[in-house]
Amino acid sequence: MARSSDDRLITVQQHIIEQQRAHPTATGEFSWLLSGITLAACIIQAKVRRAALLDILGGAGSANVHGEIQQKLDVLANETMERCLGFRGNVGILASEELDEAKIVSSPTGTGKYVVIYDPLDGSSNIDVNVSVGTIFSIFERITSGPITDVKRDVLQPGTKQIAAGYVVYGSSTVMCYTTGNGVHMFTLEPSIGSFMLSAENVCMPERGKTYSVNEANADAFPSGIQKWLKWAKTKEAGPYTARYIGSLVADFHRTLLRGGVFLYPRTAKDPTGKLRLMYEANPIAFLAEQAGGTASDGTQSILEKQPESLHERTPLIVGSKREVEQVLDYLKRG
Ligand code: AHG
Ligand code: MN
Ligand code: MN
Repeated sequence: MARSSDDRLITVQQHIIEQQRAHPTATGEFSWLLSGITLAACIIQAKVRRAALLDILGGAGSANVHGEIQQKLDVLANETMERCLGFRGNVGILASEELDEAKIVSSPTGTGKYVVIYDPLDGSSNIDVNVSVGTIFSIFERITSGPITDVKRDVLQPGTKQIAAGYVVYGSSTVMCYTTGNGVHMFTLEPSIGSFMLSAENVCMPERGKTYSVNEANADAFPSGIQKWLKWAKTKEAGPYTARYIGSLVADFHRTLLRGGVFLYPRTAKDPTGKLRLMYEANPIAFLAEQAGGTASDGTQSILEKQPESLHERTPLIVGSKREVEQVLDYLKRG
């Protein structure tokens, strides 16, 4: 996982450029785009860490397309992502959990070729109690070229078409994790210089883990296969597993990526198609999981294979170590 004896200090920009060299067609445009995300992450983390002092905790007095009350930090993080990505010149379309519709980015150099879809602040319910939150992003290349006339076609692509994905988790340290389809790499923010420095390269998810992560308060509405797997996981024969649930997808997944095990957000009575959103939560997380040797399913099919019908559609999510996810899917099949 760690780089060999090379003890150079590698910034995320340097790493991206090194990664680009592996893609002869890459023109450095991509590293310019990703540096827009790292800039936004530095600004958002500075606000998150001082939120109570800046009077930016609590509700913003508005609701998003899901009817969820937006937190002030949701709105600020969204504005920051728009400002940092909207003027890169190579982004053609931005789509956000906090924007009803995808946004065409007009730029002097014509229409950018990239589509960036993001959850600007994930784990909003945890902001006011100082629990880890994060930002999640998913990047596609547009299918159409020239002036943007068919936003839906460029945005509603299956997860397999992502060219990059990642998250930033604002935890005890600020860690950025990304993949361009060439392994999963992590960078820790050095606040004194405002740079993300390489802290883990080619991260591999353990084949199996000892932790499951689910909001068991919803268990009565889970599919019976999942209820049965959770019952088995509590038995001596199973190990038994330990339960960990933070309530911020980025934090629960970051632990699963490093320690193994399984994170589940199945359908529930309140969210019969699942709560998490496919385009800016499940897809990027699934890309990272698969790149690290894990896997992600909605219970019947691979998350990455799903053909989206709408920007904000929800999906059940079962993601983690191959062993646990395949076991859960087997229980689901048996019913
Ligand atoms: P967001 O704050 O972007 O709306 O996401 C919250 C999501 C996700 O982060 C987490 O896994 C899930 O909501 C937790 O849901 P419950 O509180 O229902 O367990
Ligand atoms: Mn979220
Ligand atoms: Mn969010």
